[in-house]
Amino acid sequence: AKDPVRVLVTGAAGQIGYALVPMIARGVMLGPDQPVILHMLDIPPAAEALNGVKMELVDAAFPLLKGVVATTDAVEACTGVNIAVMVGGFPRKEGMERKDVMSKNVSIYKSQASALEKHAAANCKVLVVANPANTNALILKEFAPSIPEKNITCLTRLDHNRALGQISERLNVQVSDVKNVIIWGNHSSTQYPDVNHATVKTSAGEKPVRELVCDDAWLNGEFITTVQQRGAAIIKARKLSSALSAASSACDHIRDWVLGTPEGTWVSMGVYSDGSYNVPSGLIYSFPVTCRNGEWAIVQGLSIDEFSRNKLDKTAEELSEEKALAYSCLS
Ligand code: NAI
Repeated sequence: AKDPVRVLVTGAAGQIGYALVPMIARGVMLGPDQPVILHMLDIPPAAEALNGVKMELVDAAFPLLKGVVATTDAVEACTGVNIAVMVGGFPRKEGMERKDVMSKNVSIYKSQASALEKHAAANCKVLVVANPANTNALILKEFAPSIPEKNITCLTRLDHNRALGQISERLNVQVSDVKNVIIWGNHSSTQYPDVNHATVKTSAGEKPVRELVCDDAWLNGEFITTVQQRGAAIIKARKLSSALSAASSACDHIRDWVLGTPEGTWVSMGVYSDGSYNVPSGLIYSFPVTCRNGEWAIVQGLSIDEFSRNKLDKTAEELSEEKALAYSCLS
């Protein structure tokens, strides 16, 4: 039998946490033969709720779940973890300035970076979900210099999956037959959902999405804004954030990173830019990636037309501004 993998979920008493921990305990993230020990962190005001989640995990009697650590102590939470899913953060409240929210999250990610750096297992893989996800991941990277930068990522797989979903609905095809959309840039409304290299499996072979949809006005307009605004649309409908799909996509992100992407398929991940596609280095930016042997690599050599170039640059600009704002909160 395999040794258990220790998976940290911060903000585990929150909405996404409540959807995510049972998925992990059922093997959705790491596979049906991989035992897990869950480490759950939240803050003292949520301690009682966190304990309630722990009680439910016990009650669900998950065969793969070999232990649960539920704590408000970051050091205890981070000790020995192989995978860290960072969902905890400070939400923007009505009337708050952007800078105030950034400042709160910068201080959270700075201190949790130190706890991970000192206490996590060697080669721990980190996924930041909490917003502003790219910039929180960047701060985490800066304050955990001994964790390799390739191990620090943020979630844009939800946006990627939303794009697959929109194409599948539009063409009335199975979502599993659509692949290779790309989310470029920030997990925000400036992200660029790109279908220029996306295909659909049909009885006549793989066909480009652009050819099948045959409506550039929709693909360059409503499709993009629907994906960009989907989070807000769900909050409006549910009066709560998109916890189910965020949790599911976080499992997809880690599963593909650890177990690999299928041959010929790429996925979107927010990763530390190496300057590929002329994206400024030093930002956490969402790229198309393939994964093998537990490592991601940016897909190279895709053609970028002028429409796309403009959109790649816009979202990079926003990330540079966020980075500057985050740094101004440090001083
Ligand atoms: P929520 O408010 O229900 O849960 C957040 C939890 O984090 C709360 O239990 C809170 O007590 C905890 N928390 C706050 N500060 C913490 C700290 N310092 N350490 C540990 N835990 C802490 O929010 P929800 O809906 O679960 O969303 C979580 C985050 O994920 C938000 O920032 C949200 O914007 C983001 N999000 C990101 C998505 C993505 O695709 N990247 C998609 C959907 C949400």
